[in-house]
Amino acid sequence: MQEGLLHKEIDETRQGEAFAPFTNEVNRYKKKFYIESYGCQMNFADSEIVAAILNENGFGATRNAEEADLVFLNTCSIREKAEQTVRKRLTEFRKAKLQRPGLLVGVLGCMAERLKNKFLEEEKLVDMVVGPDAYRSLPSLIEEAETGQKAVNVLLSRDETYADIAPIRLGNNGVCGFVSIMRGCNNMCSFCVVPFTRGRERSRDAHSIVKECSDLFEQGFKEVTLLGQNVDSYYWMDEQNDEVVTFANLLEKVAMVSPLLRVRFSTSHPKDITDEVLFTIAKYENICNYIHLPVQSGNTRVLQLMNRTYTREWYMAKIDRIREILPDCGISSDMITGFCTETEAEHQDTLSLMRYSQYDLSYMFYYSERPGTLAARRFTDDVPLEVKKRRLQEIVDLQNLLSKESNIKDLGKTFKVLIEGDSKKSSADWMGRNSRNKVIVFAKGNSNFKKGDYAMVTVTDCTKATLMGKLADV
Ligand code: SAH
Ligand code: SF4
Ligand code: F3S
Repeated sequence: MQEGLLHKEIDETRQGEAFAPFTNEVNRYKKKFYIESYGCQMNFADSEIVAAILNENGFGATRNAEEADLVFLNTCSIREKAEQTVRKRLTEFRKAKLQRPGLLVGVLGCMAERLKNKFLEEEKLVDMVVGPDAYRSLPSLIEEAETGQKAVNVLLSRDETYADIAPIRLGNNGVCGFVSIMRGCNNMCSFCVVPFTRGRERSRDAHSIVKECSDLFEQGFKEVTLLGQNVDSYYWMDEQNDEVVTFANLLEKVAMVSPLLRVRFSTSHPKDITDEVLFTIAKYENICNYIHLPVQSGNTRVLQLMNRTYTREWYMAKIDRIREILPDCGISSDMITGFCTETEAEHQDTLSLMRYSQYDLSYMFYYSERPGTLAARRFTDDVPLEVKKRRLQEIVDLQNLLSKESNIKDLGKTFKVLIEGDSKKSSADWMGRNSRNKVIVFAKGNSNFKKGDYAMVTVTDCTKATLMGKLADV
């Protein structure tokens, strides 16, 4: 499990999932690669770019590490625990390498970028270290590694967006697709390693984004999630049409691909989300009523130390504005407990802000100092671990209550649900989500619905994490 996470259901960053497309074509390729991904959705989307680059160059994906010639771990550095998980996994591959000397192991992504050459000193059996902007060089790095040299490319770029590369969809349900719209981050939140591992923010060509979304729709996908660390600062100059494309404009363009294609996005920074974005969500039925708006702390002094550039009151006003323009909008958040010098009273401010915001869901962590960040250089990580953990437990308990309350409000209501597949527990039930991003499980009964269809479902029961329902009488 991720550090700071007490419940599986609040784990936003995923751990070590191995993906490969279901295909028999793998035997066509000269060599096989296995890729395991950690961290945020953007990192998972990157693994799909990596798969496309490798495919182009004669490598086929496999889900079975034991038959792979190349093993890649696409890594995350966000908290110390995330890095520990990867190191543990590397020890396992080290053993495999001793048995199979030809096997090459590559570390990709944020940990590769953070540690660079140091990685090779620390983990002697790693053959390749490749940062998030260097994936185009993978084929030549593999060649280099095959001759027995260590291969490293951790150059960050100001313009790489992999816009022209059609990702190979790995391990998806064929209904929901993820599309990166930008890379990097220019916000220097003092606790965060991302600006160091992902580099400067850059937006991807809007035409290539819209094309990727319509291609997905043509392949049968019914939902796209536009991904970026801070989607509201998306900005792209369309030289051809002499037009600036803002995030609101982009949302509109993607929404117009088809009214049957749902549009989601993540993550919004409270300081950047505009009324224009909110009005665009209101205008299109297929843009989902759900905003992930991480607050991190409910106290203005702590927010200032975090360099989040807004105050408690400013955030509250943003919540009010969302509720005013989009009365049915789901809102979720990220919170960090025990940031440097956080007092008990300041922690209480986080709890009261959570109540004010009435979050449907939160991803909650305790502070983990990251080397090189502003906070690591300027402040002392002085809140004892047990205090961080106790505060975390308090916000988790409160969030559970808020989630349950929010779900209880939905009892008796009817929602349009996009069916994503069988429910985890029973193949007699469908699982889907409503516009507000709530998971709904309902009996298939005698209906002719299939995965990817929309169904009207009335909520009959709930837990804190799931709504249960039945097909609505229409
Ligand atoms: N771009 C997003 C966040 C990306 S990281 C945003 O601005 O909200 C996802 C979450 O991890 C953050 O929102 C934060 O809550 C958490 N996080 C980041 N750095 C952390 C650290 N050093 N310790 C604990 N949690 C951290
Ligand atoms: Fe990190 Fe802040 Fe950028 Fe999010 S906005 S990725 S928390 S620096
Ligand atoms: Fe982790 Fe890098 Fe994402 S640090 S959260 S994988 S951007």
